[in-house]
Amino acid sequence: MRGRLLWLVVPALLLAAAGAGLSQLRKPSDAPAGREVLARGAALYRAECQACHGGAEGGRKTDIPPPHNRNGHTWHHTDCQLEEIVLQGFDPGDGTPPMPAFAGRLSKADVRAILAHVKTWWTAEQRKGQARLTRERC
Ligand code: HEC
Repeated sequence: MRGRLLWLVVPALLLAAAGAGLSQLRKPSDAPAGREVLARGAALYRAECQACHGGAEGGRKTDIPPPHNRNGHTWHHTDCQLEEIVLQGFDPGDGTPPMPAFAGRLSKADVRAILAHVKTWWTAEQRKGQARLTRERC
């Protein structure tokens, strides 16, 4: 009986060890939006975005630039629209200040980390709606 148990336990331990080794080899940009990605997104947001867009609280939908938290309208846009706005910039052409382009300064993975961080400010409802829109349109 004990021998049989060992046959179950040893391969399980080996698998777990292999998994841990693999996740160590993985580059941060390939990782799912775990703690590491969120921390990187938060640091990048503070350095590159916060001065214009503000932080987790405050602001109104009509502000220019708009807040990215639950009071803004960032959650109305799909992930691919948001990535494009951040990398290519956006000029509404109505004399209001444009959103600068970050291509060359931030990678796609950087932008995704920033967006993952921003999403933690949204309500569960906003997150769900935006995820559905992204699935449908990206
Ligand atoms: C120099 C100021 C400035 C900086 C820095 C800046 N933005 Fe913007 N951003 C703007 C302005 C102004 C607009 C509004 C353009 C308009 O009128 O539509 C805007 C619009 C946006 C929008 C579209 C509106 C929305 O909420 O969906 C997104 C997304 C965005 N910015 C993300 C970012 C991110 C992410 C960063 C940091 C990497 C950043 N911005 C840094 C000024 C800035």
